[in-house]
Amino acid sequence: MSIIEKAAGKLDKERKLGTVQLAPEVSTNLSEPAVREKDDPAEKNDELRPSPASGTPDRPLSASVLTPKRITLNHTKMREYGIVTPDQGRTQIAEQFRVIKRPLLTNAFNKGPGMIKNGNLIMVTSALAGEGKSFCTVNLAMSIAMEMDRTVLLVDADVARPTVPKILGLGTEQGLMDILLDDNLDLADVLIKTDIEKLTLLTAGRRHSHSTELLASQSMGALLRELAQRYADRVVIFDSPPLLLTSEARVLAGQMGQIVLVVEAETTSQQTVKETLRQIESCDVVNLIYNKARSFSGGEYYGYYYHESA
Ligand SMILES: Nc1ncnc2c1ncn2[C@@H]1O[C@H](COP(=O)(O)OP(=O)(O)O)[C@@H](O)[C@H]1O
Ligand SMILES: [Mg+2]
Repeated sequence: MSIIEKAAGKLDKERKLGTVQLAPEVSTNLSEPAVREKDDPAEKNDELRPSPASGTPDRPLSASVLTPKRITLNHTKMREYGIVTPDQGRTQIAEQFRVIKRPLLTNAFNKGPGMIKNGNLIMVTSALAGEGKSFCTVNLAMSIAMEMDRTVLLVDADVARPTVPKILGLGTEQGLMDILLDDNLDLADVLIKTDIEKLTLLTAGRRHSHSTELLASQSMGALLRELAQRYADRVVIFDSPPLLLTSEARVLAGQMGQIVLVVEAETTSQQTVKETLRQIESCDVVNLIYNKARSFSGGEYYGYYYHESA
């Protein structure tokens, strides 16, 4: 029995959903930036923009309403990093994330009995750094955006060490921190559309010495409520800081509908997993990914487990 099975076995309810083979070798040469397309003034970011009624005399909609951002992601770099891209066809890694996303989507849009509050807000986290949070976040977002009739908003909430721009080949863009710091900026002002039709980004934005406090602030709470309600028809996936090394991940976890907990095989101890699960007790739905594990054939695979403590 693996560490994660033992840990999950301590929980009230646990259901194993599958174990799938992983992925080719990846490299992390991330130098080439994505291409930003010329802004087309004729195109409005309407899909992402709240209704005009939300602009008020105190807080008018900003001028950028006419200059939506749209970028072309660097698919070559993404593939090198092990990220699923549309032109790859049916790869092993694409299959794995297909399995992983299914229960998340069922939970996110279940409007019947057992409906999960803010189920469309999904945070990917882990106990420590380097376990594969960002890798899994971007792959999940890509997988959902490429195949489902759902718009995905990928939020880089690891504001102290943002890696989503590196993985996607982006430069520095305005993002989460900028909205929290500037009352005149609206969420729709900083959302970035991509060449993947259904994938929209909210980057971490500018570095700030009080990023921890900002993530735990009331403004952030209000933003999350806005995301859950105004964008209820889309999946919002958050990359996050490590739970045991920061306090903001715990605060964020308390406001999520679902959490995906990445556990690095043969590295994260059982004790660490237990402690991490305690930190996220406030979230009713926790999904576990057993990452970077070796199969008998010597390849790598994910084990995926599902736990609902509601
Ligand atoms: N399943 C995997 N297969 C291959 N490499 C992986 C896998 N998961 C993570 N990695 C690699 O491990 C490193 C750390 O992953 P990352 O997602 O940045 O961790 P975190 O966000 O938890 O700090 C990266 O180089 C990433 O490409
Ligand atoms: Mg990361």
